[in-house]
Amino acid sequence: AHLWRGVIREYAERLPMLEGAPVITLQEGGTPLIPAEHLSELTGAQVFVKYEGLNPTGSFKDRGMTTAMSMAAKHGAKAVICASTGNTSASAAAYATKAGMACGVLVPDGKIAMGKLSQAIAHGATLLQVDGNFDDCLTLARKLAEAYPVELVNSVNPARIEGQKTASFEVVDALGDAPDIHCLPVGNAGNITAYWRGYREYAAGHGIEGVPDGVATKLPRMWGFQAAGAAPIVLGHPVDQPETIATAIRIGNPASWKQAEEARDTSGGRIDAVTDEQILAAHRLLSAREGIFVEPASAASVAGLLMAHEAGQVPAGATVVCTVTGHGLKDPQWALKGADGADVTPTRVPVDAYTAAQALGLEG
Ligand code: F0G
Repeated sequence: AHLWRGVIREYAERLPMLEGAPVITLQEGGTPLIPAEHLSELTGAQVFVKYEGLNPTGSFKDRGMTTAMSMAAKHGAKAVICASTGNTSASAAAYATKAGMACGVLVPDGKIAMGKLSQAIAHGATLLQVDGNFDDCLTLARKLAEAYPVELVNSVNPARIEGQKTASFEVVDALGDAPDIHCLPVGNAGNITAYWRGYREYAAGHGIEGVPDGVATKLPRMWGFQAAGAAPIVLGHPVDQPETIATAIRIGNPASWKQAEEARDTSGGRIDAVTDEQILAAHRLLSAREGIFVEPASAASVAGLLMAHEAGQVPAGATVVCTVTGHGLKDPQWALKGADGADVTPTRVPVDAYTAAQALGLEG
């Protein structure tokens, strides 16, 4: 039987940067590409969901953390640091533990989902809550990494993008070619940068020197979606006070802004904004109709696809992949509200089959 070995070993020949580095891995990657029947029917496209919540710490960050942490180990680092809206810190904390390194994480004041916070604490990271937003945290983390012997593992670290590009390889390996359209949420814009790099490297004729050409014959259009209250790339200027219930992408000045624009423009794609209402509707649709539980930010990709479909912009029969970036258990509170926003609570019943059957609608 073939056992998945993590993204560094699975794609070693396409990760030349990692050559000779110790491999720090939790066997990340190899996530399912799930055919989404309801979304396909709704849009007239062939829609697949790349479920990144099934990575070891519950988000796509693990793909970039295995590479960043392996490079840190190669450099002899004893400690790593990151700024985070939650998932990067959870991943950095877990991989630092695996590597035997110390981990410091800078998180914005409040607005961090409980699941993510508990992961960083469980893995023994030193957690600093900064009086500021994510963008302030990243500025601070960069300063610390410049002045002290600690390696920065945010996506401004080139090893992060290298690792995260493997998600595109997996999509092409699963579909046999690149999709026509790839939708994903955009926050600090590292992931859209990474996917675009992965698709380009995996396309025939685009092979990087010394490594085999890819199996893809085409490139997808990259469709990125920001939350409306945190949409600097859409607006064309930084947002000082980003606001959205999708706290993972509550970012006003993305580090990979230029690269995201490049992915958009060279792929003939788009970067648009979706409202919190659209995000929550897509979140509900994924859990209630597709059986896929995600955190709100993840649903921005599907919200964007639905918005584009309503505007008549999704070609009939197109192959579309939506990345959903983080697991629903990271931030479960949103599932406990109905479409009307009211709390959903279980119906109380005694230990009695007839009453239970009635409550379940099994009794007339
Ligand atoms: N989805 C989730 C669940 C995320 O956690 C993030 C980013 C994104 C999407 C956006 O990805 O930044 O590469 O454009 N989370 C970072 C963090 C900022 O600190 O965990 P991006």
